[in-house]
Amino acid sequence: MEKILISTNENLKSEIYIQKGLIGSIEDFLDERKYFLITNTTLAKIYSKFIKKFDKRRVIIIKDGEKYKNIKTYTQILNQLLKEKIERKDCIIALGGGVVGDLAGFCSNSILRGVELIQIPTTLLAMCDSSIGGKTGFNCKYGKNLIGSFYLASKVLIDTDFLNTLNDYEYRCGLGEIVKYALIEKSCKNDVDYNLLNLLSKYQTQDAKNEMEYIIKACVHLKARVVELDRLEGGLRKILNFGHTYAHAIETLSNYKKFSHGEAVAYGIKCASKLSYNLGIIDRDYYNRIDYLLSKFQLIQKEVKYKSKDIIEIMKQDKKVENQKINLLVPTAPAVVGLFDNIDLPSIEASLL
Ligand SMILES: NC(=O)c1ccc[n+]([C@@H]2O[C@H](COP(=O)([O-])OP(=O)(O)OC[C@H]3O[C@@H](n4cnc5c(N)ncnc54)[C@H](O)[C@@H]3O)[C@@H](O)[C@H]2O)c1
Ligand SMILES: [Zn+2]
Repeated sequence: MEKILISTNENLKSEIYIQKGLIGSIEDFLDERKYFLITNTTLAKIYSKFIKKFDKRRVIIIKDGEKYKNIKTYTQILNQLLKEKIERKDCIIALGGGVVGDLAGFCSNSILRGVELIQIPTTLLAMCDSSIGGKTGFNCKYGKNLIGSFYLASKVLIDTDFLNTLNDYEYRCGLGEIVKYALIEKSCKNDVDYNLLNLLSKYQTQDAKNEMEYIIKACVHLKARVVELDRLEGGLRKILNFGHTYAHAIETLSNYKKFSHGEAVAYGIKCASKLSYNLGIIDRDYYNRIDYLLSKFQLIQKEVKYKSKDIIEIMKQDKKVENQKINLLVPTAPAVVGLFDNIDLPSIEASLL
């Protein structure tokens, strides 16, 4: 079993375990406490056998979908936890993708001023990204993830068997974040060279599926090191937002319905690369290489039909805006990204697809 540890200088710890079939022996990770399991309607059906291991009164099932990642669902979870008399020594388990993970994470952080959290990510995106590093929260009409906190899970249990029931569309969404890691790897200050960019350049979708445990390990390791150095996103951690300022804009405009997060990230990566190429930062070869990766894995399939001015308006409102300038990460060299705060609006407009 692979174990990766996040250990910050504030002495916060998060243990991440990666192993096919791991939840078959979930008991090894739990003790005598009360556990509250939060999941959604889809997973409750597919994984009913696993869920039956938990006391029915302490299983909370929310509606499935990004559009339910809101204050109403947050309140629903809190009310159910309180009704069942959750105590500070109890523990919350999030079983699901990024939506369940982010919501359950924020509930764990805020209820009774914090109870322990275990993440069991079930989508590729959640395994590689959202379950790691403690960002929690939900969306509101002003934008994505605007209400939330940083709260590390004590444990993240990654069982790649969950991927067997994931459909191709959701699989590709996870690949969107994986391509992001490949394009930022050398900026991550990691001690191991996974060379994800070269690996992914060689792979077709099926090869990537066969090697997924290794790829997940690489992404988790990269994210863990970044989070360890900069948990609260003062500097280095911003690189994990590569592609995300564009992504959040189209997700918000679509009201979280038309584009999944991973699809939107792929769109953002493509725009940021185009911006970099237009500004003469990266050469045609590298731009084509990125474009090839995105199309090979079929990551951009839907047309973005929103007006440029609406996209830019939301990009300006994004929480990463400082002094009214849009801070944008763009690729600067293979597997390296840089943060620019002086990019003029016409250039950003020209980078939209
Ligand atoms: N906290 C972070 O650091 C972070 C990072 C990236 C993304 N996110 C957030 O994550 C969310 C996206 O996460 P997601 O892509 O996992 O979406 P999701 O949670 O909506 O899951 C996608 C779909 O797959 C289904 N599903 C989940 N696991 C399954 C399985 N094993 N088999 C079959 N179906 C399954 C879900 O029910 C859902 O319909 C966004 O809200 C995004 O903002 C958070
Ligand atoms: Zn993301």
